[in-house]
Amino acid sequence: DASDIEKGTYPHYMLKEMDEQPGVVRKIIQEYSDANGELAIDASILKAIKAADRLYIIAAGTSYHAGLVGKQYFEKLAGIPVEVHISSEFGYNMPLLSEKPLFIFITQSGETADSRQVLVKVKELNYPTLTVTNVPGSTLSREADYTLLLHAGPEIAVASTKAYVAQVAVLAIAAYVAGQSNGKEVNVDLKQELAIVANGIQTIVDSKEELEQIAEDYLKIARNAFFIGRNLDFCVSVEGALKLKEISYIQAEGFAGGELKHGTIALIENGTPVFALATQEQVALNIRGNVKEVVARGANACIISMEGLNEEGDRLVIPKVHPLLTPLVSVIPLQLISYYAALHRRCDVDKPRNLAKSVTVE
Ligand code: G6P
Repeated sequence: DASDIEKGTYPHYMLKEMDEQPGVVRKIIQEYSDANGELAIDASILKAIKAADRLYIIAAGTSYHAGLVGKQYFEKLAGIPVEVHISSEFGYNMPLLSEKPLFIFITQSGETADSRQVLVKVKELNYPTLTVTNVPGSTLSREADYTLLLHAGPEIAVASTKAYVAQVAVLAIAAYVAGQSNGKEVNVDLKQELAIVANGIQTIVDSKEELEQIAEDYLKIARNAFFIGRNLDFCVSVEGALKLKEISYIQAEGFAGGELKHGTIALIENGTPVFALATQEQVALNIRGNVKEVVARGANACIISMEGLNEEGDRLVIPKVHPLLTPLVSVIPLQLISYYAALHRRCDVDKPRNLAKSVTVE
């Protein structure tokens, strides 16, 4: 069938889709540039964002994790407060809303029933809605007032990779453009920084042997695994843990480094794998302190740091990118490590048990 042809020589869609990620970022830069070569979004969408006093991001799964990063972008680059909600929770636990909310639905497929039920509900209340999706003409795109497209190309593997990167990149652009238009002073040339990100992602997808080795060293026989980070690294930790759970069936948890001592550290035994992200300068020392704590209790720690913040003994050093954009790059090794862990354990990478690509029941 057509989808077989698309996979080409790749053994799995997931591997192909991870390899496409540098190109996806470049495509997004192009699609979201105006005639003068400046980053831009549709004028009506910009107006809707600027008219809002608060953004409510609604999403599920990996898209929810992209939303956690997006919150920081809108707050830091545009100065607009943001709440991020799991769509299946929002319906029966609606927070007190601001006066002028804008609802942003992040959904790769545009078909997730949990997210759609929120869309239907807030439309009844006459609130403006924006869908960020990979699928033009999808249900959530058709039913929302506005759509921002991800331009990532079809994502077939159940575990989302390139769509996450696309979501984070598009949210960064939307936040940046809104901030610029509001005259917010941010010392970032986002277009240039995203181009640097694309190159950084390329470097990592070209390091497959190293990532396969990490998967073997840390996860081949692991029963569980932990992902820790602080600030933006925390947002990526939860996505890293989800990737690993989805395709390798290893019980995994991602959490804030500072929370270790409040419970999870009780689970650390001899050989427990702990992946620690250290890409955020102001918390790099704290996360390294957490690593010392788990190593003292026998953990097998894998530090993934960023150029400029790296220290001897770090297992992987990702290329340097703008501190706000590290999620686009630090997630890539976690995707690839999960992929190879799943292969080592002979799991069906593209079609993991019990999961569906898009879940159209509530
Ligand atoms: C399913 C998929 C996940 C995905 C989630 C949300 O559970 O298995 O990979 O993140 O749905 O999907 P959406 O299409 O709304 O982003």
